[in-house]
Amino acid sequence: MIANGSEENLVESLLSKLKLKEKFQLLTGYFFFQTHTVPRLGIRTFKTTDGPLGISQHSSFLRKNTYFPAGMNLAAAWNRELAYECGEAIGKEARAIGRLCVLGPGINIGRTPFNGRTYEYYGEDPYLTKEMSIPFVKGVQSQRIAACPKHYVANNQETKRYTVSVEVDERTLHEIYLRAFKETVEEADPWTIMSSYNLVNSEYVHESSKLLKEILMEKWRFSGFVMTDWWATAEGDSNNKEPSHSPPEIAIKAGLSLEMPKGHLYEQKRLEEANRNKKFTEKDIDNLIRRILLVYVKVGMFENNKSLPKGERNTKKHQNLARKMSEEGIVLLKNQNNILPLDIDKIKQIACLGPNANKKFGKFLYGGAAAVSPPYEITALKGLKEKCKGKIQITENPSDSDYVLLFMGLNHDSPKKLISDETIEEGIEFGNESEKMDRRELRLSESQIKLINETVGINPNTIVVLINGSPVAMDGWMENIPAVLETWYPGMEGGRAIANVLFGDVNPSGKLPMTFPKKIEDCPAHKSERTFPGVDLKVYYEEGIYVGYKHYDKENIEPLFPFGFGLSYTMFKFEEVKNTDNKIKAIDETIEINVKITNVGSRAGGEVIQVYSEDVKSSVDRPKRELVGFEKVFLEPNETKIVPIEIKGKDLAFYDVSSRDWKLEKGDFILHIGSSSRDFHLKEKITVIS
Ligand code: BGC
Repeated sequence: MIANGSEENLVESLLSKLKLKEKFQLLTGYFFFQTHTVPRLGIRTFKTTDGPLGISQHSSFLRKNTYFPAGMNLAAAWNRELAYECGEAIGKEARAIGRLCVLGPGINIGRTPFNGRTYEYYGEDPYLTKEMSIPFVKGVQSQRIAACPKHYVANNQETKRYTVSVEVDERTLHEIYLRAFKETVEEADPWTIMSSYNLVNSEYVHESSKLLKEILMEKWRFSGFVMTDWWATAEGDSNNKEPSHSPPEIAIKAGLSLEMPKGHLYEQKRLEEANRNKKFTEKDIDNLIRRILLVYVKVGMFENNKSLPKGERNTKKHQNLARKMSEEGIVLLKNQNNILPLDIDKIKQIACLGPNANKKFGKFLYGGAAAVSPPYEITALKGLKEKCKGKIQITENPSDSDYVLLFMGLNHDSPKKLISDETIEEGIEFGNESEKMDRRELRLSESQIKLINETVGINPNTIVVLINGSPVAMDGWMENIPAVLETWYPGMEGGRAIANVLFGDVNPSGKLPMTFPKKIEDCPAHKSERTFPGVDLKVYYEEGIYVGYKHYDKENIEPLFPFGFGLSYTMFKFEEVKNTDNKIKAIDETIEINVKITNVGSRAGGEVIQVYSEDVKSSVDRPKRELVGFEKVFLEPNETKIVPIEIKGKDLAFYDVSSRDWKLEKGDFILHIGSSSRDFHLKEKITVIS
């Protein structure tokens, strides 16, 4: 690796040799996932690839790669090490196929379960989101592959995604939607960032000096470069793209370095003309190119391949990691009379039914940009058959089976007639999730609900296993079913992971990264058309900072399952909490609390100790409780551990609009410690003293 300092020298030397025309070329993409080259200076194409669930087939010359579980699954595992390992593995796969940048992680906030891309992201809470994205980015970049957190910012719906403006107040923008980006920039130093399609307060993000230059670059000291989302600079909806009408100098001055996948805004002729008319200077362009070149240096573009990490893909190690991630992210939602885990030695026959039983999800562009096609995919049915081989017969007949497993949920199918982004033929069943479309229904399809109720009428030992990436309502069937398991989109090894959890080889330890509402009207984003999906190309974030559990707590709404919820096959006792020091002086200080926890059940298992803060007295309105810390711990039966948990001053702070900065006010905070956002076992007071 080139030593720090000499990196800058190399950049300056390259910059001084580039002609203006070449600089213009470096500002735009060339052929979907690549950029222009300047061979005489050793500047090669900067090949990007879609993430964040693995290396996509559409951006790797049709190659098949490890398909990891979805972002929601990773967040549901509440395990920072897994996030690092996943990033590292994806970085290695990118390296192995000669790509230099992974377009991920996706860190938009789950404002509504209807967002078609919810499954790619890390849920509704900015703290949990950043705790996943920071290690993920570090993992990717450990392989000297650039990570690209996306989509900056407030890209929380697919409906009219190219044209809608998010109308959001300053505090909400910072506290909810910018926060994970800020923390990821400050803690993990991602080398690139992707700006979003949507506008924020009527301004395109890629043209926003405030969002790019002032906040991202000056305030957070982002040292990498900004690229647009694909075709974001062309106008109109996806079926009606035409060149942008904006002059290029706005984006140039805002700090947009790379327009992908080709030049609309930065089309060469437009740049030349604007330059002739003195709309920008060469120095303005140099500032953008400098950032690009620095990243090219960091990924090793000018080094001998031998000095770079080698990379590997489709290894057993990566496949095992995919399985482990899936196992840890599975959430047990209901388990009446401990019907689960199933005892493999006592069962003769299981019926396996449902639309997702044998469905493969890792297919070309299936679900949009996040699609990964793996060399193989273990469906739920396949995993079950493998587990039960020679022991339990698998049938499709509920009446004479000991148990029935119903594999339900959502998928990424498009409605048959999506005429354009805005026009959908009447009568099409919506409910599926994917890029370019939002869900229209929180419930499962009528046919699934019918199948569930008919089946449980025949066999009361009917268990529902959900395969989907965002919350679903369960009225009209859940009360009739003894057990429900949420498995998200579990990746290429998902079938094995699901079978391991069903039969108790793995004890579920996942916790919900998003509240499951009883009905969509309970969700803060769904108060009116204005708040979702918007009117006259504006969507108003009227709920402010009260997103997810913060809203349900404030309004006293009982959710179906709260944020952070998840059952286990064992039980944990939270005994006491001790502080090494219960005083915190400054926003950049950290204190440690120690929680004593014992596994009081009869099986080994994992628990996520969750810490939520309550600001006892504040000068501004604050949520009742906010997630400020967690730790996942694995315990054998009767084992006790004292688990240290870090609480950072900055996570107790709020965004103060008048000083335009984060503020930690003096006074007491109560830390509520428990196993979900609504199930607390211990309390501890800490005090901010200066
Ligand atoms: C998506 C991005 C993706 C890009 C490249 C866009 O449609 O919004 O997430 O990285 O395409 O495939």
